[in-house]
Amino acid sequence: LNYLTPKSRLEVLDLLVTGLKRLEYRGYDSTGVAIDSPDSKNIVMVKRTGKVKVLEDAIQEHFTGGEYSEPVATHIGIAHTRWATHGEPCERNSHPQRSDEGNGFVVVHNGIITNYNDVKTFLRKRGYEFESETDTEVFAKLVHHLWKTHPTYSFRELVEQAILQLEGAFAVAVKSKHFPGECVAARRSSPLLVGIKTKTRLATDHIPILYGKDDKKQTSDQVLPRSDSTSEFMPLEEKEVEYFFASDASAVIEHTNRVIYLEDDDVAAVRDGTLSIHRLKKSLDDPHAREITTLKMEIQQIMKGNYDYFMQKEIFEQPDSVVNTMRGRVRFDGNAIVLGGIKDYIPEIKRCRRLMLIGCGTSYHSAVATRQLLEELTELPVMVELASDFLDRNTPIFRDDVCFFISQSGETADTLMALRYCKQRGALIVGITNTVGSSICRESHCGVHINAGPEIGVASTKAYTSQFISLVMFALVMSEDRLSLQQRRLEILQALSNLADQIRKVLKLDSKVQELAKDLYQHKSLLIMGRGYNFATCLEGALKVKELTYMHSEGIMAGELKHGPLALVDDSMPVLMIVLRDPVYVKCMNALQQVTSRKGCPVIICEEGDEETKAFSSRSLEIPRTVDCLQGILTVIPMQLLSYHIAVLRGCDVDCPRNLAKSVTVE
Ligand code: G6P
Repeated sequence: LNYLTPKSRLEVLDLLVTGLKRLEYRGYDSTGVAIDSPDSKNIVMVKRTGKVKVLEDAIQEHFTGGEYSEPVATHIGIAHTRWATHGEPCERNSHPQRSDEGNGFVVVHNGIITNYNDVKTFLRKRGYEFESETDTEVFAKLVHHLWKTHPTYSFRELVEQAILQLEGAFAVAVKSKHFPGECVAARRSSPLLVGIKTKTRLATDHIPILYGKDDKKQTSDQVLPRSDSTSEFMPLEEKEVEYFFASDASAVIEHTNRVIYLEDDDVAAVRDGTLSIHRLKKSLDDPHAREITTLKMEIQQIMKGNYDYFMQKEIFEQPDSVVNTMRGRVRFDGNAIVLGGIKDYIPEIKRCRRLMLIGCGTSYHSAVATRQLLEELTELPVMVELASDFLDRNTPIFRDDVCFFISQSGETADTLMALRYCKQRGALIVGITNTVGSSICRESHCGVHINAGPEIGVASTKAYTSQFISLVMFALVMSEDRLSLQQRRLEILQALSNLADQIRKVLKLDSKVQELAKDLYQHKSLLIMGRGYNFATCLEGALKVKELTYMHSEGIMAGELKHGPLALVDDSMPVLMIVLRDPVYVKCMNALQQVTSRKGCPVIICEEGDEETKAFSSRSLEIPRTVDCLQGILTVIPMQLLSYHIAVLRGCDVDCPRNLAKSVTVE
């Protein structure tokens, strides 16, 4: 929403398309954009199936007339990149969705409206016909219906009344030809932020919240103060500000680092260059204002640089990202660890009944990877749970449980729902996330920010190793005063201090891994076996292969081999085994022999110079030795590289694998 400097519609479109490109990792099956027509009386939409590039080309074809390059003082445009939930990816189902053929109200939406069928039936009875299979379309048509039946309502009130009727999770932004120059956005359970760009520095860090239906107050006490103002709430003059509504900070960071994270059931409206934030009801613990946060993210962090893909860049960033996770927290000289976001809660955590680690996908694997060490160093029972299954089971939770929610994005709906479930039952909530200001971050009692830097590749890599290290650091904090564990702690601290160099060494295997990928990429399947501390690498490695290469892959617990998976093994089945000199070495060697005696010829990941183990393999990848509980960080990197190279060889889109999205904000 531009009130700062006059921009042409083409510039607005360019800004929207660049924003979509930054968000593409969140969904990329179809795209769309809506802006005002040259006479400002209508709304023009362009929608396409496929990635943002397709939309960009279509925009160039569509908006050719000179009138689109005329600067306009005020302009509001909306755009969307979709990850289909309801209805196949096609132009008809892409967003914006509209209320009527005249494009009276147009809506972009993330999330799922769960009662959309009921609303659809209601609207059909009132003469509305639906053109898409999306749940979003009911939103646009419901606002339209309310507009016809309540002609005195403001735009913001119409949206408020609409969301009162809707169930589910959503973040929406609505534009209307009946309310030119205005935009209304709202959220419930899906992320949404407001970016604010002004010429001069804002003199406030807060925007007050308005409660109830009192629209009259809108011009007096809820607006941004003028930068040069001494009074706290002076209206900001028109044309001095540009507002951005976005689901993710990466879409706005090149314009501004000043953002407000909206909370559930907030409705944000912009009218005449004035931003206001509303809530229908006030509850006791509601704050009276929303804070304006200054983001530390840099634009370079979300650019590919010299790499071909974001995922490749993120794999190679790991020597730095693991150091960033430990920075300011681990003091190698004094063997001390301080986790600022959690330290006040440590005495309470030490008294708990059990630790629960909950997450999805790769984040779940980081819990599997560190469970054994947590059990060892905390001497507490540790449960590891997939968020969706945990909720399906209505798992019993007690007030003296400590529940960790691990999530790179901090927005995964399944994980967030599990968090709320545990919070309601009185458990202590600890968030382990990579995204400051995310829902999981804000709804946790305490937590650790993993500081891996923005991760754009859909398949998670550096976030995994940083989550791993965060949980290891927590285990070390919990065992600080256990005399019997000091030797073990020292050994781990020592290993942590060498980790970055060892990761650099593992990354040098890149060309060797690429050669291996050439042997494997035409196969249908890949089995990855290991046990103990490295079982998580098998699961994570297999997930990477599946996500990126669409090849079948399975992570197999080597101890279970003889209970079924061995039947898959013959001389043509590719097998990769992780065999390290750790407490399960002998057992892994047994599994290895079970495979070789069935004519299997496994590739082995083993320790540098371990000739004895290598002798059983067709080929091997040698990695440096570290302490057993951290070895999983060094074994997962060859798996990340392998899946990457196989994907490239198979011609797959590495950063945007089919059917997947980086941040899954629907259950
Ligand atoms: C999606 C992504 C996975 C990710 C999972 C959990 O499925 O494609 O790569 O591991 O969500 O995401 P989170 O942000 O909660 O770590």
